[in-house]
Amino acid sequence: MEKKPVIYSGIQPTGIITIGNYIGAMSNWLRLQDDYFCIYGIADLHALTVRQVPAEFRARALSFFAQYLACGLDPSKAVLYFQSHVPAHAELAWILNCYTYIGEMQRMTQFKEKSDKHTDNINMGLLSYPVLMAADILLYQTSLVPVGADQKQHLEITRDIAIRFNNLYSETFKVPEAYIPKQGAKIFSLQEPTAKMSKSDPDPNAAVSIIEEPDSIMRKFKRAVTDCETVVEYREDKPGVSNLLTIFSEMTGKSIEELVAEYHDTGYARFKKEVGEAVVEKFAPIRAEYNRLMDDKAYLAVVAKEGAEKAASLAARTIAKVKRKIGLVVR
Ligand code: TRP
Repeated sequence: MEKKPVIYSGIQPTGIITIGNYIGAMSNWLRLQDDYFCIYGIADLHALTVRQVPAEFRARALSFFAQYLACGLDPSKAVLYFQSHVPAHAELAWILNCYTYIGEMQRMTQFKEKSDKHTDNINMGLLSYPVLMAADILLYQTSLVPVGADQKQHLEITRDIAIRFNNLYSETFKVPEAYIPKQGAKIFSLQEPTAKMSKSDPDPNAAVSIIEEPDSIMRKFKRAVTDCETVVEYREDKPGVSNLLTIFSEMTGKSIEELVAEYHDTGYARFKKEVGEAVVEKFAPIRAEYNRLMDDKAYLAVVAKEGAEKAASLAARTIAKVKRKIGLVVR
C-alpha cells in the first residue's frame, strides 16, 4: 500500500486531551510523522457507545481536531481525519463482527468496566467496540499501533481477528504489532497520584488540559496532592511528588536527578509553583495556535475533508479485497 510502514492511532473525543495524553501519546505521534506513514483519527464513532449531548459532542470533536493540529501534527505528513467521515470503518466493522465471538467481547476488561459504569445503557456498540477498533487498524494495512496499557487487549483481539480472517480466506490483512515508544512517561492524576491521569476524570482538579488557561493550570498544580514530608525525591512511596517530577522533567528536558538536586530542600510550595509554570510555558504556543485555528473553521473543514479523502481512498482498497474474498457480488 504505502512504502513506509503504516502507523495508526486515535483518540475518542470525550473529556479533555490532557498533558498525560500529550506526554504519553501525542509527543510520540509527532516524532513518528517523518519515519512512518501515520494515520491519526478522531474516533468519534467509538464515542457513541456512551450517550453524548449532540451539540457538545460536535464542538468537542472539532476542538480535538484543532488540538491535533495545534500540537504539530502536520496534514502534509500524516493523515488526520474524523473516523465518521470514512464509511469504510463502519462497513468493515460489520463484516468483522461476523468473525468475532460474543464470548471474546464479553471477556474484554474495558467492556466489563464500562458496562458496570453505564448499567442503563449496555448497548451493542459497547460490546463490539473492539471490532470497530480492529476495523480502524486493519483497513489501512497498519504495521504498528502506539497504544497505552489500557488498549493492549484491544490490539490483541485485533490481531486474533486478522489472523482468523487470513486463515479462512488467505492473506488479506497485515497483522499489526503494538508500538512501545522509547520515550513517553506515564502521568498520574494530580489528586490521586496512584491512578492514571484520565481524560474524563469527574474531578476537575485531577487532570490538566493541553489548552487550559494559565491561571487554572497554576491553581491545579498548587493543589496537587503530595505527602506529609517536605523533601523533593523520586520514590515509590511518594507518588505525588514523583509524578510532579516526571511532568517537570518532560516539560523542561531536565533529568529527574537534576531536578531533585535543584529542588530537594526548596519546599513543596515553590516546587509545585515552578512545575505549574513549566507546564504553562510549554503549552502556551499550543494554546495560541489552537485559538487561532478555532477562529478559522473554514481551514479546519478543508483539512478534515482532505484527510477524509486520503483515508477513504486507502480504505477502499482493503474493503474491495475483503468483499471479493468473502464472496460478495462485485458491484
Ligand atoms: N480505543 C482507543 C482509546 O480509547 C481509541 C482508538 C480508536 C484507537 N480506534 C483506535 C487507538 C485505533 C488505536 C488504534 O484510547
